[in-house]
Amino acid sequence: MKKILIANWKMCNKSAAEALNFLNVLPSPQKKDVRIAVPFTLIREMAGNSLKIRIGGQNMHSYAEGAFTGEISCMQLCDAGADFVILGHSERRHLLGETNEFIQGKVERAVVEGLSFVLCVGETLEERELGETFDIIQSQLDSAFEDLSEEQLKTLGVLIAYEPVWAIGSGKSAEISQICKVHDFIKEKYPLPVLYGGSVTLENFEKLIQASSIDGVLVGGASLGAATFGQMIQLLPEG
Ligand code: 13P
Repeated sequence: MKKILIANWKMCNKSAAEALNFLNVLPSPQKKDVRIAVPFTLIREMAGNSLKIRIGGQNMHSYAEGAFTGEISCMQLCDAGADFVILGHSERRHLLGETNEFIQGKVERAVVEGLSFVLCVGETLEERELGETFDIIQSQLDSAFEDLSEEQLKTLGVLIAYEPVWAIGSGKSAEISQICKVHDFIKEKYPLPVLYGGSVTLENFEKLIQASSIDGVLVGGASLGAATFGQMIQLLPEG
């Protein structure tokens, strides 16, 4: 299976001009699976780029429309050119109070409207230390995928990203063996591609991407520089 490289730009504060300059200096991914999840304002600018890098959103609401100031709908993401969305990122779960139930609503919305998504799951440090890692991940997955068949998830090209909360933005990536244990656990229950995210850098990229249980990486901070991200594209295996 092709390995997958996804940048999560978070609230990166890039202007449209900066985002287009970023694309301009990247090497062509050719047939590699490379994607960037960008702030809403950059989707239309970046979608349909000549490098064929897939552009996605980082969040959306579970309702089709309504009085939800500041939110965005699935239809609007698609209309702007997004061809995937990140759902359940831990920053939204933990900093913005998103619950498993709310995320399940978003998953349902994406399925109904046919938008592919990356579901993020992961435990906090406290949960890991209490030995709750697998229970937390199972409950996040079971809740998000309630009532959905494996067939539906596969048809939509759904990906799972394992992002231990303690490894995100901490400079302290999880050990490969820790990651593989969790990925194998996830794949046994939901046989979908599983990406790893949490302090992925150019230094640990190759080791991570070569591990057979790691189907790709979701990169935050290190994806913001075109030189680094460009090198990751080059290091990503072809097939
Ligand atoms: P960092 O790579 O900055 O740790 O962020 C990971 C992440 O949250 C990707 O979604």
